[in-house]
Amino acid sequence: MDRRLAHVREVNPGARKAAERPDGTVARTCAPGTGAELPGGRGTVRRTRWWILALLALTVVLVACSKTAPQNTMNPAGPTAQTEKNLLVLVLWPAAAVFIVVEGGILLISIRFRHRKDRDRMPPQIHGNTRLEIGWTIAPAIVLAVIMVPTVSTIWQLARQPADAMQITVEGYQWWWGFKYTDPDMAVSYGDRDAIVTADVLVIPTGRTIDLSLTSLGGGAHSTSGVPDHEVIHSFWAPRLFGKQDVVPGETNHIVFSADEPGTYSGQCAEFCGLQHGKMKFLIRALDETEWQRWVANEKDPAVKPTSDELAQQQGMDLFFGTNGVGGQCIQCHAVGGTNATGTAAPNLTHFAATTHECFAGCDFATVDEAALKAWLRDPNAVKLGAKMPDYGLTEQQIDALVAYLYSLK
Ligand code: CUA
Repeated sequence: MDRRLAHVREVNPGARKAAERPDGTVARTCAPGTGAELPGGRGTVRRTRWWILALLALTVVLVACSKTAPQNTMNPAGPTAQTEKNLLVLVLWPAAAVFIVVEGGILLISIRFRHRKDRDRMPPQIHGNTRLEIGWTIAPAIVLAVIMVPTVSTIWQLARQPADAMQITVEGYQWWWGFKYTDPDMAVSYGDRDAIVTADVLVIPTGRTIDLSLTSLGGGAHSTSGVPDHEVIHSFWAPRLFGKQDVVPGETNHIVFSADEPGTYSGQCAEFCGLQHGKMKFLIRALDETEWQRWVANEKDPAVKPTSDELAQQQGMDLFFGTNGVGGQCIQCHAVGGTNATGTAAPNLTHFAATTHECFAGCDFATVDEAALKAWLRDPNAVKLGAKMPDYGLTEQQIDALVAYLYSLK
């Protein structure tokens, strides 16, 4: 008997013995003992495997076919995303070459030297071949060293925070995004002249460099116990404008970016943060200079008050603030500029119905969709499981009044 086979037998004496035939050849130990095929046996399993593989491949091909891909990293709309894409493409080619060589080698060797029935010899063992070992240690080290040069310089480049950049704080809540415009010239015109605060849609001037400060805040508990809970890690990501950046409680991370053209860019949370992580979305609206000035002027104004002849809006406002002893829960968490509603645990509603505020509740619903807004007020958890906004058991008439008031907040 071959010495190498003897070694194998030493390692696993029982199994090997059963497999060895009297003529010295080795039978496949995984074959059924009788050699008889069971109905629906190996053939079916193999066919099913091929079907699964084919379906997986088809899925990969089909997902690449979408005509509208609003979150396509390969279609950058600003310098930050462009820089990141350049690095990605640069690294992609060496990675593709390595992939082809390694995977090609594995495929070639597996097919060329696969086990055949009439072969009983072990292939030559090359374990401990010094030249090969040194070769495949040094080659990847060189590849990584070369890739490191553009990677590190890109990291430094993207970490730069220009002094004249516009400062906006991004606040991650469960499960929506808040935006605070902290530059002195972005203060509102009323009260303590605080910063303009919005939710869901980040409105920016086209072409202007923006420096985002990312923080994670509690999602609703501020109003009840005063202690911020639900502070979890999120990740802020608008693929066409910038890559992911973690939003960590107690830390402030930065993203510096700008948008080349006016338009709407979609983004989402990219770090699992609880039940509705998948629907923690946002929009970035880049406006041209005229529209931007108009937006800023409107945001600086306090919320409009319904006049006395707008009965439904009036009733909604009374319910919102609890003026007549009914309602008043909304102001526990929400703020409406220029009123005594100053809650910060939920989205600021000062300009809820402004045309730029295109979506609400983590951009899960279109703001203009009245039916969605009513369903949300009827029972937030029924349309967004886990939502921190409670169900207040509002009547249909109360819901109509609140919707009328909310739509008056232009
Ligand atoms: Cu926030 Cu995922």
